[in-house]
Amino acid sequence: MILHLSDLHFGTEKPECLEAIRQFCQTHPLEAVVVSGDLTQRARLSQFLACKRFLDQLETPYLVIPGNHDIPLYHLWNRLFNPFTRYQLFFGELEPTLETDNFYLVGVNSIRRRYHTKGHLSLEQIQRIDRKLGQAPSSKLKIIVSHQPFYVPFQNKRGFKDSPLMAKIALEAWAAHGLFAVLHGHLHQPAVYDLNLIFELGADHPVYDVHAGTSASHRLHKKEPNSFNLIDASGKISQYLFDDVTQSFLLKPDMLNK
Ligand SMILES: [Fe+2]
Ligand SMILES: [Fe+2]
Repeated sequence: MILHLSDLHFGTEKPECLEAIRQFCQTHPLEAVVVSGDLTQRARLSQFLACKRFLDQLETPYLVIPGNHDIPLYHLWNRLFNPFTRYQLFFGELEPTLETDNFYLVGVNSIRRRYHTKGHLSLEQIQRIDRKLGQAPSSKLKIIVSHQPFYVPFQNKRGFKDSPLMAKIALEAWAAHGLFAVLHGHLHQPAVYDLNLIFELGADHPVYDVHAGTSASHRLHKKEPNSFNLIDASGKISQYLFDDVTQSFLLKPDMLNK
């Protein structure tokens, strides 16, 4: 199983959530941890360092990708010419691949220096990822990790405007190669949608859009609790919410009997 964290926003992190994530990792047989961007609040070196230390301490392989908060906002020179220098100093590759016993995970960098929040994918990126998915073992669940959601209901104006350009083109190609899910963060609002139905991709299987809330930041969406997702080897997706009383992440109540 894999643990899907997001929007840790170091600099605004809650120590009790970090401790609860540590506990969860120690008590569950995780193959990998995924963090779908916004590792930091302001792309400061100290925030990247704290995030790296935290992830290293989990002693589980992890895959991370940048979010819009992980490029400098105020330092214009860096923002224009070296937007990912700090991120790469700590996390290296912008689009890593991680293969475990049951999963094939591919990171996609949808962050562009010219936009603050809007996601973007290039044709070259789409083709490169497509080749990777085509070569991945068919026995494994193929998962893309990207910061901005590929689908947001129209009523959510902020999410709708931030969804990556070219998302539908990308999905049509990737679904044909057996894509199981795309994992995101950004909106700090957990949700799951079937992109195959929504975009009529023509695949003979669901393609899930899995949104994570913020797993550790006090920057909550409408006071929704901190949360993360768990995906097991059969493809079952579960959401866990932080519980103030027990100071731990608990399975979302309406998922208990599923
Ligand atoms: Fe965020
Ligand atoms: Fe974001």
